[in-house]
Amino acid sequence: TMAKILIATEKPFAKIAVDGIKEVAETAGLEIVLLEKYTEKAQLLAAVADVEAMIIRSDKIDNEVFDAAKNLKIVVRAGAGYDNVDLAAATAHGVVVMNTPGQNSNAVAELVFGMLVFAVRNFYNGKAGTELKGKKLGILAYGNVGRRVAHIAKGFDMDVYAYDAYCPAAAIESDGVKAVSSQDELFEKCEVVSLHIPATAETRQSINYALVGKMPKGGVLVNTARKEVINEPELLKLMQERTDLKYVTDIMPEADADFRMLEGRYFSTPKKMGAQTAEANINAGVAAAHQIAAFFKDGCTKYQVNK
Ligand code: 3PG
Repeated sequence: TMAKILIATEKPFAKIAVDGIKEVAETAGLEIVLLEKYTEKAQLLAAVADVEAMIIRSDKIDNEVFDAAKNLKIVVRAGAGYDNVDLAAATAHGVVVMNTPGQNSNAVAELVFGMLVFAVRNFYNGKAGTELKGKKLGILAYGNVGRRVAHIAKGFDMDVYAYDAYCPAAAIESDGVKAVSSQDELFEKCEVVSLHIPATAETRQSINYALVGKMPKGGVLVNTARKEVINEPELLKLMQERTDLKYVTDIMPEADADFRMLEGRYFSTPKKMGAQTAEANINAGVAAAHQIAAFFKDGCTKYQVNK
């Protein structure tokens, strides 16, 4: 019998991406089962019961899901961040977890600029705004998305800075981007800061009053990373005091209603949509299918994140 791959996507892929995944799976002799737009965890628990592999997005995969998935060998998160998967539970159940780094990073990077132009033109209310040209852009974390943001920023003639705790300054500078020596320095220097850090124990709520408070007058903070990295009560308090600051994001804060009171200085999309393009869905979805095929064929564990 053919091994089954469950595509479990609360936020579905574009149809063309699902077609691409199916083609790769069929060529590899694997069967696709589709669970899209599910609303109850029970639907997910039922769907995982007899599958050997899963392709997911931001879908929450916890111990209960692993318990219910008796035949599961591999979960591939079609995307970058895997903070939605309980890695310890996966390892305890002998399940390999992978991501697909870089596959959807351009989509996220383009959205950063969509949001930035929107913000500096006062959310298209018709009043005179400012331009991005010549402004200092600070990129926090210089990974696949950060690098793409830097590349596009040069097209806008921005003055590009970056900080990454795990990337040597020389690697940043070799891209023609100015490396600063701390997170604090990045916020002190830059009128615009774009977050590209993962949600980890270390980064959780790290974007706080003291840090964002260092931004120069008229500062714009863009968050297409994770809502968990923001200390929401502190950012809210700061923005109530500093009426020059703006915050734009595609990850709606828990305190969305409170942020909405900051009229003309806050915007959030209703659903996370940085990676919500046909191209990103195809790139990440098809890469996930190839990774699963290679895992079953040759035991390939490249991109495993719970090694
Ligand atoms: C990622 O980590 O790859 C992005 O946040 C995309 O998430 P999504 O698949 O939920 O759109």
